Amino acid sequence: MRLAIVIMAAGKGTRLKSKRAKVLHEIGGKPLLAHVIESASQIVAPRDIYVVVGHQAAQVETAVKTTGVHFVTQEEQRGTGHAIQTVEASVRDYDELLVLSGDVPLLKPETIAALRDFHIEQQAAMTILTAEPEDPSGYGRVIRRKPGKPEVKAIVEQKALTHEQAEKEREINSGIYAFRAEKLFAHISALKTDNAHGEYYLTDMAELLVEAGERVVALKAAHAVEVLGANTIAEMMELDREKRMDTARALMSQGVTVLRPETTVIDTGVKVGADTVIEPFVQLLGNTTIGEDCRIRSYSVIENTTVANHVLIRQGCVITDSTIDSGALIGPFSHIRPESQIGEGAHVGNFVETKKVKLGAGSKANHLTYLGDAEIGSGTNIGAGTITCNYDGVNKHRTLIGDGVFVGSDSTLVAPIAVGNGAYIAAGSAITEDVPEDALALGRSRQVTKPGWAKNRRARKG
Ligand code: UD1
Ligand code: CA
Repeated sequence: MRLAIVIMAAGKGTRLKSKRAKVLHEIGGKPLLAHVIESASQIVAPRDIYVVVGHQAAQVETAVKTTGVHFVTQEEQRGTGHAIQTVEASVRDYDELLVLSGDVPLLKPETIAALRDFHIEQQAAMTILTAEPEDPSGYGRVIRRKPGKPEVKAIVEQKALTHEQAEKEREINSGIYAFRAEKLFAHISALKTDNAHGEYYLTDMAELLVEAGERVVALKAAHAVEVLGANTIAEMMELDREKRMDTARALMSQGVTVLRPETTVIDTGVKVGADTVIEPFVQLLGNTTIGEDCRIRSYSVIENTTVANHVLIRQGCVITDSTIDSGALIGPFSHIRPESQIGEGAHVGNFVETKKVKLGAGSKANHLTYLGDAEIGSGTNIGAGTITCNYDGVNKHRTLIGDGVFVGSDSTLVAPIAVGNGAYIAAGSAITEDVPEDALALGRSRQVTKPGWAKNRRARKG
């Protein structure tokens, strides 16, 4: 049996009131469509997945092009039935088709597989995945021939429901279907646009096939939440919450403690090692990996970063595109900007900003410092208020600081500059020339002290 999956993703998403196509909106840190493709890819190979794109097609394709699926363009979006008419030429030769919606992102592979198996077992022309959520409003309703039996009579769209039907009919159409390709395409040209939106509705295929004497059945999904659609921002944020809760639950099942998971924002795909504690209001975003036995304290936002084992990240740190080696201690309130590498056991303290910096093992920059475009060896102490002056208004320059260096507080290091191993820089220095190994450099004027001056001044004013 040849099986293809079609994902309908051409619509604009008018109800979102957004400039961006609906399927590009994100839950769990990834576009809706990416989630659907990921689940579909567990069922068939990407070469058997066809995504119908239309609104902002170029951006949509770019967002998911690494998945290797096919794209079919629906130039004008004339309804879900029209989307399938558009893809007909590409999928006509398959035996069975599974049709998914790009805006139903929580659907799990097991549920797609269950739909496929039920459809084959029932030898149906069309199988509709349904659910009974608490609030069915907004969805099409599936009308069965007899309650509890698989055979379906029709799908009635929300806008076409009578008042009585809206109350009584609570089984929703998830917009996810299986079709015998041959039967679908034998009748799809009979779809009409005599409905509230003047569109070709794929849902009308149920009645059309029944009228043609074909078997149309429904399978109720075990978990209604999986088939919820995201038509408004509010609905999307509900799904985002579900998705992130799922991620947090999966981490907890692997030995991670997520304190108050409803407050954390953890993207799909973030990895965390056992015995790590994630405190409330932490955000772990993008391609982030955290090791074992770490503690990430509240209000830290960590993105595209690799954190090794035994790292403590204190409150309020912002860490992006960086690497933190084992045993390091960061924060509170550190800003670790892209391409920073904080070495094993190193300390970065409050109000310290780093950018394109390699801070060696055991080195410390504990207070009020800017380190940019710098390479710092191991066991070096960077005093409070140290600034690498990396920018001359036109170009960026590098600062090299060796091992075991002591940089006194409030020093400015005017790059390009190099400080040798074991050197010592006096507090308050402006360093403009290289400092050799083991030297002491002072870059400040001598202090002038005038005895009695203050007392005399007060006497004059008195
Ligand atoms: C659809 C169903 C409804 C079901 C609901 C479940 C129809 C007519 N109605 O309604 O019964 O309860 O899904 O979520 O199908 N799309 C295209 N091309 C188009 C139009 C839509 O590719 O011309 C895509 C959209 O991008 C979207 C999907 O098809 O991903 C569903 O379209 P949408 O407009 O969201 O349908 P609903 O009103 O939600
Ligand atoms: Ca929808």
